[in-house]
Amino acid sequence: MAFSDALHPYIATLREEIIALRQDLHQHPELSFQEFRTQQLIMDYLQSLGLKPRKITKTGVTVTLVGDRKGPTVALRADIDALPMPDESDVPYASINPGVCHACGHDAHTAILLGVANTFCQHRDFAGEIILIFQPSEEQLPGGAPSVLESGALEQAEAIFGLHVWQSLPFGVFATHEGALMASPDDFTITLHGKGGHASMPYDTIDPIIVAATIVQSLQTLISRTIRTEDAAVLSVTKIHAGTAMNVIPEVATLAGTLRTLDPVLRERLPKQMQTMVEHIASSYGARAEFTLTKGYPALINDPLMATIATNAATALFGEQRTWQTQPSMGGEDFAFYLEKMPGAFFFLGMGTEYAHHHPKFNADDAILEQGIQLMCEVALQFLAK
Ligand code: NI
Repeated sequence: MAFSDALHPYIATLREEIIALRQDLHQHPELSFQEFRTQQLIMDYLQSLGLKPRKITKTGVTVTLVGDRKGPTVALRADIDALPMPDESDVPYASINPGVCHACGHDAHTAILLGVANTFCQHRDFAGEIILIFQPSEEQLPGGAPSVLESGALEQAEAIFGLHVWQSLPFGVFATHEGALMASPDDFTITLHGKGGHASMPYDTIDPIIVAATIVQSLQTLISRTIRTEDAAVLSVTKIHAGTAMNVIPEVATLAGTLRTLDPVLRERLPKQMQTMVEHIASSYGARAEFTLTKGYPALINDPLMATIATNAATALFGEQRTWQTQPSMGGEDFAFYLEKMPGAFFFLGMGTEYAHHHPKFNADDAILEQGIQLMCEVALQFLAK
C-alpha cells in the first residue's frame, strides 16, 4: 500500500498535459540563470491552478501547498536549466534555441514537479506543508542552490528531496544510496615556471615539460598510495599546455584537471598534498610552481533516514525488485548544498534511454513523467506521515 494510491487515477489524467509541458520546455531550453521564459511558464501554470507562486533568486520559483491539517513541512526540488550544447535529438520539439539543449533531463524534472503541484492542489488531504522549489542554474558554478537557500524559501522546511531521471538505469527503476551518492567536483590548475631556451641546449634551460611529466605521473600516487582503498577519489589531469615550436624549450607549462571525492575530509586533505608534491617536484628541478584549486559543489551526502523514507516510497510504488541501492557516482550535483544545511535525500529514476546525459542526442522519456509524479508525491506523503 502506498500513501498516494488514491492519487494515481488523478495523476493518470494529467499525462497529456504534463507531456506537453515537458516538450514545450525541451523546445525552449535556457541556460543557467537565464531561465526567464521557463520561470514564466512555471508561474503561469501554477497560477492557472489557483496557486500563489513566488519568484525567487533571479529565475527560480517557489510555491507552498498547504494540507487540510497541521503537520511538518517538506520541500521538493526540481532544477530547470539547460546546457550550452547543440540539440541533435530527432524529435519535432527539438530545441529552437541554437546551442542550448535540455540534455540532462531538467525539462522532465520541471514537468514532474508541475504535475506534483497540480496533484496536491486538488488533493489537500495531508498533514503539513509541501514547498516546491523550481531551482535555476544546476549546471553552472556556483550553482543555483546557494541562492535558493539565501532567499529564505526553505526556512520552514524540515527536509528536502530531489529526483534526477537517470538514463543508464532500466526504465522505472529507483536508485539511491544511504550516504554519499555523488562526488565533490573540484578543479585545479598548475602553472610551472621554468627557463626557456634552445632545444639543442637543454642544459642551459629549466624544462617545464619534464617537470610537468613528472608531476602528472606522481599525482596519481596520491590516489593509489595515500587514501584507504575503500574510500573513493579520482584525480585526472585533463589539460597540458606548453610550447610553441619544435626547437624551443618553453618557459611555462600549465596543467589542469579535476579532483573528485565522496569524503569531505579527503576533499580538504588531497589539495594540500597535491600542492606540497607539485611545489617540491618543481623546486627539485629548479622550477617554480603555482597551484590553484577552484571548488565545485560539495559531495552529495544523503541523510540515511531520509534516504530510507525515499526508498520506502519507491518500494511501495514500484516493488522491491525495482528499488535499488546504487553505488555512488563521481559526478557532481548542487543539491549537495541543501544537504549541508538540512536532512534530505537525492535519488535517481531510471529511463533506460539510449544516449548518456550531456550527449547531444539525449532526450528524456515522456513515459517516465507519470511515475516521477507518483514518486515525488509518495516521498512527500511518507515524510509528512513520519
Ligand atoms: Ni542534471
